[in-house]
Amino acid sequence: MTDHTAPIGPIENRPTALRTHLCGVLRGSDEGAKVRVCGWVGRRREHGEHLAFIDLRDHTGVIQCVIDTKVDVRSEWVIAIEGTVRRRPEGTVNPGLDTGEVEVGDCTVVVLNEAEPPPFSVDDRDESDEQVRLRYRYIDLRRPRMQRNLRLRARVNAAIRAAMDRQGFCEVETPLLWAPTPEGSREFSVPSRLHHGSFYALPQSPQLAKQLLMVGGFDRYYQIARCLRDEDLRADRQFEFSQLDMEVSFATQDDVMAYVSEAVLDAAEAATGERPPPITHMTWADALDRFGTDKPDLRFGMELVDLAAEFEKTEVRAFSGSHLKALCVPGGAALTRSRLDALGEQAKRAGAAGLAWFRVTAAEGASATLALDSPLDRFLSDTERVALLEKTGAKEGDLILAVSDTHRIACTTLGTLRAALGSPPVGQGPHCYVWVVDFPMFDGVDAGGNPQPAHHPFTMPYEDDLPLLDTVPFAVRSQAYDLVLNGWELGSGSVRIHRRDIQSRIFDTLGISTEEAEKRFGFLLSAFRYGAPPHAGFAFGIDRLAAVLAGEENIREVIAYPKTQSGADLLTGAPGALPASALAELGIRTVPSPGTAST
Ligand code: AMO
Repeated sequence: MTDHTAPIGPIENRPTALRTHLCGVLRGSDEGAKVRVCGWVGRRREHGEHLAFIDLRDHTGVIQCVIDTKVDVRSEWVIAIEGTVRRRPEGTVNPGLDTGEVEVGDCTVVVLNEAEPPPFSVDDRDESDEQVRLRYRYIDLRRPRMQRNLRLRARVNAAIRAAMDRQGFCEVETPLLWAPTPEGSREFSVPSRLHHGSFYALPQSPQLAKQLLMVGGFDRYYQIARCLRDEDLRADRQFEFSQLDMEVSFATQDDVMAYVSEAVLDAAEAATGERPPPITHMTWADALDRFGTDKPDLRFGMELVDLAAEFEKTEVRAFSGSHLKALCVPGGAALTRSRLDALGEQAKRAGAAGLAWFRVTAAEGASATLALDSPLDRFLSDTERVALLEKTGAKEGDLILAVSDTHRIACTTLGTLRAALGSPPVGQGPHCYVWVVDFPMFDGVDAGGNPQPAHHPFTMPYEDDLPLLDTVPFAVRSQAYDLVLNGWELGSGSVRIHRRDIQSRIFDTLGISTEEAEKRFGFLLSAFRYGAPPHAGFAFGIDRLAAVLAGEENIREVIAYPKTQSGADLLTGAPGALPASALAELGIRTVPSPGTAST
């Protein structure tokens, strides 16, 4: 499991005018040194009236200070202590603390600032309510875990910048007040004071801006970009997040993946001290077929197997779908009937008509070694029973789950169950990065029955697949690629369309008229008439990468000031009402909301 208390990289002493040493750097070799340390009062233990042990804390750790005069200091007061470093007496050394060999004695205490009693303990071991933590985030940030997470994130950013710089990329900042981009999420809009009734969009990503930089001859662009999307918040989603955003000219998908891999592996090494192995590739079709998702978690097996051929002539009515997929849950035979029913419900929510289950038990007769315990068992032929066991590799005590449906639904349903039953916690297991390539060009249809882009309308299809655009558009593969880490989508990108003829064909397939395209993306299309080089790019979520590297389940833990699930900022109270005068200046009249979101 991830150790949230381990320091990120070596700690160097940084004296200032107010202190000689940081709290966390003192060691046995400092014995006898006269020091002045500053920080917050952590734990305090009183031994009678004139002896107190204070754990003084700063961002580097804690140092025990022994006070043998009467001083009044309380939890979280800010103090400076002058004294002498000495070895702790025999039997009192604390091996769990980096400074545990020593203490500061002969102390003089200077109170730099008093503090009200904190609403929760700063000690990592006390898990306090998250609402309270967010309300008093500045106190929460003092906790070693938050210090570690944000410092880890800073290292990730620094390593990414160094890698991109080394690879010849130029950092360019792009506007936050801009026009809508075709990323597909809801956008935040900002009213214009100077043009009443007009709005800027906050960028969902710098997508179009970076493509214009390619037209502008920048060749290799990157940015650690703030992006904003007004979407429902989840463990891996915030309104505001950061991307390593990049774009490169005269390059292919393989070039992009090589540049990004280098930055990601450097970042991972900077954060964890270990360089992950080179990142492997898998096609989207393979990921779906083997793991039931385009975000495969490769830390564990439980791969899906195909039983369509073996069950082609089955008598089992529940298996009448075009595809039969199954997976084995090791040790899953112990799941209770109500748990299995709950999995069945989960399968239905994922779109399947139902879920078949088979507990693998020891056979009673001498002819077979394994038997299946399932309401469907009596409908199986002997060969089907053997095929189920052999293809899934199930052993006694395991559980086989099977879904019969279209290929897509059978796979995605089992993919959901595989993740629910098999995924280890975020902080556990190796970091398994994988590039998922060859995504389909289109995914689903809009209300008018037009195919929708799986990535965005500027994604380049494989040229070999272009003839399929008019016949079987859903079979067209795009030059789009995702980077996945332990089941999290870290990022995505694509080769862009730079040729006008291909772009028009894609707009046609999407049902976007020339007028609409002009209206929505006119400035990009116009720029493309002035010499657009072939280009390709990518963006990955830094919040997500930092969260996985820090072993955190929720990206809020690697963001200094995150929003709650309902989009509130508990620290500042945002979002809030504007005074009538400010609304008037913006030319906005508000109507009462039917219900106000609670936190
Ligand atoms: P995409 O929309 O896939 O691609 O976003 C890239 C990555 O950004 C992160 N991300 C988020 N992180 C936290 N909260 C969110 N709400 C959120 N939304 C996205 C994810 C995601 O994989 N312009 C394209 C990239 C390109 O084609 O170059 C884009 O933004 O980690």
